[in-house]
Amino acid sequence: MRFDILTLFPAMFTGPFTESILKRAQQAGLLDIVLHDIRAYATDKHKSTDDYPFGGGAGMVMKPEVLYRALAEVLGMGAVVQAEAEVLVPLPAERPPVLLMSPAGEPFTQGMAEELAQAPRLVLICGHYEGIDERVRECCVDREISIGDYVLTGGELAAMVIVDAVARLQPGVLAAASTDEESHSDSLLEYPHYTRPAVWRGQPIPAVLTSGHHANVHRWRHEQRLLRTLQRRPDLLQRAVLSEQDREYLRRHGWGTSLLPDDPAAS
Ligand SMILES: C[S@@+](CC[C@H](N)C(=O)[O-])C[C@H]1O[C@@H](n2cnc3c(N)ncnc32)[C@H](O)[C@@H]1O
Repeated sequence: MRFDILTLFPAMFTGPFTESILKRAQQAGLLDIVLHDIRAYATDKHKSTDDYPFGGGAGMVMKPEVLYRALAEVLGMGAVVQAEAEVLVPLPAERPPVLLMSPAGEPFTQGMAEELAQAPRLVLICGHYEGIDERVRECCVDREISIGDYVLTGGELAAMVIVDAVARLQPGVLAAASTDEESHSDSLLEYPHYTRPAVWRGQPIPAVLTSGHHANVHRWRHEQRLLRTLQRRPDLLQRAVLSEQDREYLRRHGWGTSLLPDDPAAS
């Protein structure tokens, strides 16, 4: 899978993309992460990429022409837009999804990561300052994505989060089963993990984990997922696929009481 990232600060990506799993996946040819310096497409001698907002107000706005040229180059139509300085040349209809990092975008979720992971290529735009000129958003952005209800100084960290979450879903990047029962994979949080020693500073692990009884281990883990979700994120249970046995277990642990959201199946 290929990611093209348009940014004013490509050096910020050193570290997150040059270490650990993402580094190995790139070396193995499973991922191609290409950084594009938006400033390289600035048209004036000062290489300026932002300007004052029309109508006044605080902050600067990213200039439309610079970002548009960068995007056009990434999508293989750089020469066309350079030749047509006064015309808005539409982006090719057959293009990878162009994603704008934005606090005003759709909330990023595991479900969205799974959906994006189906595309062979994604283009991510990192905004900075007050953001990008609205006309570029209108002509060239397919989807705006927010990584949370807070405001970052720039879209780089958001792009790193999205690339990381999508990349690890690519076949071969992680061991096959690693993502199966993870938090959010099916709207339930993950069960707790333990490693050696079996007793650490007087704290034993749950006995079932050394029982050798696979069915019991499986059931215990599943119940831990239900319990954790009930205790920490009961809102997720509304969209989880639950068996009647799961519902009964949850009710025994307080689901549907006045303190926790109602079990919709109970009403
Ligand atoms: C300072 S923010 C701009 C905030 C903008 N003026 C607003 O109020 O919506 C600069 C850039 O950071 C990125 N950004 C900030 N918060 C983000 C979030 N929660 N999710 C994704 N991107 C974000 C966007 O690319 C944005 O253009």
